[in-house]
Amino acid sequence: MSSTNDIRRSFLDHFAAAGHEVIPSAPLVPHNDPTLMFTNAGMVPFKNVFTGLEKRPYVTATSSQKCVRAGGKHNDLDNVGYTARHHTFFEMLGNFSFGDYFKERAITLAWDLLTREWGLDKERLCVTVYHTDDEAFDLWKKIAGLPDHKIIRISTSDNFWSMGDTGPCGPCSEIFWDHGDHIYGGPPGSPEEDGDRFVEIWNLVFMQYEQVDAATRLNLPKPSIDTGMGLERIAAVLQGVHNNYDTDTFKSLIEASGELTRNDPSGSMQASHRVIADHLRSAGFLVADGVLPSNEGRGYVLRRIMRRAMRHAHLLGAKDPLMHRLVPALVSEMGQAYPELIRAQPLIEETLRHEEVRFRQTLDKGLKLLDDATASMDKGGTLPGETAFKLYDTFGFPYDLTEDALRAQGLSVDRAGFDSAMAAQKAAARAAWKGSGDKASEDIWFDLAEEHGATEFTGYVSESGEGQVIALIKDGAQVTSAAAGDEVTILTNQTPFYGESGGQKGDAGVISNDKGLNIPISDTLKPLGRLHAHQGIVESGTITVGEAVHLAVDSVRRGRIRANHSATHLLHAALRHRLGGHVSQKGSMVSEDRLRFDFSHPKALSAEDLAAIETEVNAQIRQNDEVTTRLMTPDDAIAAGAMALFGEKYGDEVRVLSMGKGDTHSYSVELCGGTHVRALGDIGLVRIVAESAVSSGVRRIEALTGEAARLWLTGREEQLRNVAATLKTTPDDVPTRVAALADQVRKLERELADVKKTLAMGGSGGLASAGPELINNVPFLGQIVEGLDPKQLRGTIDDAKKAHGSIISMIIALNDGKASVAAGVTDDLLARVSAVDLVKAAVAALGGQGGGGRPDMAQGGGPDADSAPAAMEAAKALIAG
Ligand code: ALA
Repeated sequence: MSSTNDIRRSFLDHFAAAGHEVIPSAPLVPHNDPTLMFTNAGMVPFKNVFTGLEKRPYVTATSSQKCVRAGGKHNDLDNVGYTARHHTFFEMLGNFSFGDYFKERAITLAWDLLTREWGLDKERLCVTVYHTDDEAFDLWKKIAGLPDHKIIRISTSDNFWSMGDTGPCGPCSEIFWDHGDHIYGGPPGSPEEDGDRFVEIWNLVFMQYEQVDAATRLNLPKPSIDTGMGLERIAAVLQGVHNNYDTDTFKSLIEASGELTRNDPSGSMQASHRVIADHLRSAGFLVADGVLPSNEGRGYVLRRIMRRAMRHAHLLGAKDPLMHRLVPALVSEMGQAYPELIRAQPLIEETLRHEEVRFRQTLDKGLKLLDDATASMDKGGTLPGETAFKLYDTFGFPYDLTEDALRAQGLSVDRAGFDSAMAAQKAAARAAWKGSGDKASEDIWFDLAEEHGATEFTGYVSESGEGQVIALIKDGAQVTSAAAGDEVTILTNQTPFYGESGGQKGDAGVISNDKGLNIPISDTLKPLGRLHAHQGIVESGTITVGEAVHLAVDSVRRGRIRANHSATHLLHAALRHRLGGHVSQKGSMVSEDRLRFDFSHPKALSAEDLAAIETEVNAQIRQNDEVTTRLMTPDDAIAAGAMALFGEKYGDEVRVLSMGKGDTHSYSVELCGGTHVRALGDIGLVRIVAESAVSSGVRRIEALTGEAARLWLTGREEQLRNVAATLKTTPDDVPTRVAALADQVRKLERELADVKKTLAMGGSGGLASAGPELINNVPFLGQIVEGLDPKQLRGTIDDAKKAHGSIISMIIALNDGKASVAAGVTDDLLARVSAVDLVKAAVAALGGQGGGGRPDMAQGGGPDADSAPAAMEAAKALIAG
């Protein structure tokens, strides 16, 4: 018996031997098609190669592609566990020709593999063709030698394959396996075709067209081939079992769930085991490809899948979270073919465990509510929509989980009632909203949020991708298109652009398409906290609602924002270490060129504090640890070391960022919705450039990272070099040189002061060396001096008194256009005049007021230095009497 892993290998080998390039599976989240929720067929990664938009270095390829069909056009969620061959996750084996071979070689290659290589009994195979496709009919006859009745013409869309509402498409030919007459069912096209006896194992699509919109179908550049074979189905055939869940891979997973729950895998609860095995695969692969459970978009599909499995685990009697304990079995079955599972194993386990812990908090209560509500219902009854809504809103039961739970009892749910309860809740939220107060624009945002839900943010894992335009706003009103010169706000169903929130600036970048559209995006806002609104002016081309566009974030700018945001978390942790646990964040601003962090602390930080904080942060950066992001319950977040949680409700979950190594927890653990570096080394360097007060008790640190920090340091060095050049020395000698200069300046100042004083006293001999003049026989010395420090006036007067024994003296010092005056009278002359009167007279002449002191020594000043001679004369006149 061939294992599933062997079958996958032999398929790829068969086509590799026939010249096909073996291409590894693309991720489950399609990068090239915003209209698709998940990769749902092997051809999805090649969509643009079929349409000619993209060229590859090969023209034929083969792959085993991971697919999820849950949500969107191909949705098998509801059937899983109840049929032999439906899965939410499956692998599609395929071979592709991009304008190389067409129908004949495709049929030959397929028939060879099935009947020669794998030795399948030709008698048990039959095929279908599109009813008008005579060519395919004849080829099957010629190549496979099938009789006419085994080449069945089908006129329905079953034999015209399309990827979605748009994309490559064409007539197809399906190959069926007859599992035997012990199983009910008939060949395709017969009234019993829905039975399980004849199972489609391979679909050969003769790609010829591209569906552009509902009304337009174009020819592809060249006829091409896309085939798809469900690995699980062919494994069932080759392993001689009818049910996919009896193949080796599923058996291992189901055995694991049987062992862990001690519930017989083939007993009455078989369907639950199967649901768990299927959902384990889709959940594991989705998490490995970057999807995390959430309440919107892809994340919500994942949550629905996980919770549905978790209810079945509960049905199997699991008392504790089960799903994460099955991950090792999944990894051992499929990790070799898909190494991403091995890489992501810890994340998958933690995500499943977290979701199950959380869901179990409400599961019992919800089930009890459900039991009470349905206790008196008979088969065929309908659960009121209100109750289903309560289960959804309060107990976290996705709608389809409730449906699934009632299915065994033959009960259904009132969908319309559920929808109207949901609508009523949204209306209430709108009425309660207190936003910016701009009613008109908020109405638009509410309408859009209600119609389309939150924008799916893809920017944690990628910085470019496709999105479908869901609304355009111009001059405050919705428009259906915008052209060159128009200033528009653009809303898409998904985007890698971060919308400004939590202190982090919105992303800039470009929105474009392959028809010449180009819109530089200057900013992205986040109205209502859940819509990402891109702002820009159309540069060229036209943007139209409904169309797909390419969104590319300016990744250099985003890289700087990431570094600044992660540095903010490190600074916060370092501040708490250095200053104490009272430090808490009061605000922050993270842009591409700097970061600002406000925090509670009563006083200015010392230079030593700042240096220590900067040293600690940079030491963490050099450790270069990976930054990890986890979704957690608020309780788990606190246990992991997160600081403060505000306003989270029971059952809420939070995004927790952990960075660096600390003593017990990570160095920094914070709740954050922002974008961050992958590893701390990406920050490069942190430099604190300012510390200031914001308000009483709140300080602000400003810092630079990476290249900006380096440039800042380079600028400082440049300044130092310039200073050195001016001082005619080397940068290294600048400190000694400046200290010496400062000493020299101090010395010179002292000398200068002495010289001025001496001068004021009339040269080397003292004030007015020529000797005093006599006014009415009273000796008087008067002097006007430029630049004498007013503080020295007093000393100069004292010196004059000492030198002359009996003297009236006055000195006026002129500095910066102002005049200071001092006068002195020796005791023997006090009867003649008072120094206070002399100063008052002078001050009046100098345009000042007052002046005072004692009769033997007084001082004053005035603003009008030019009047110094007049002031001197006024004093003399007073002495003269
Ligand atoms: N793309 C084709 C399918 O999914 C082969 O069936």
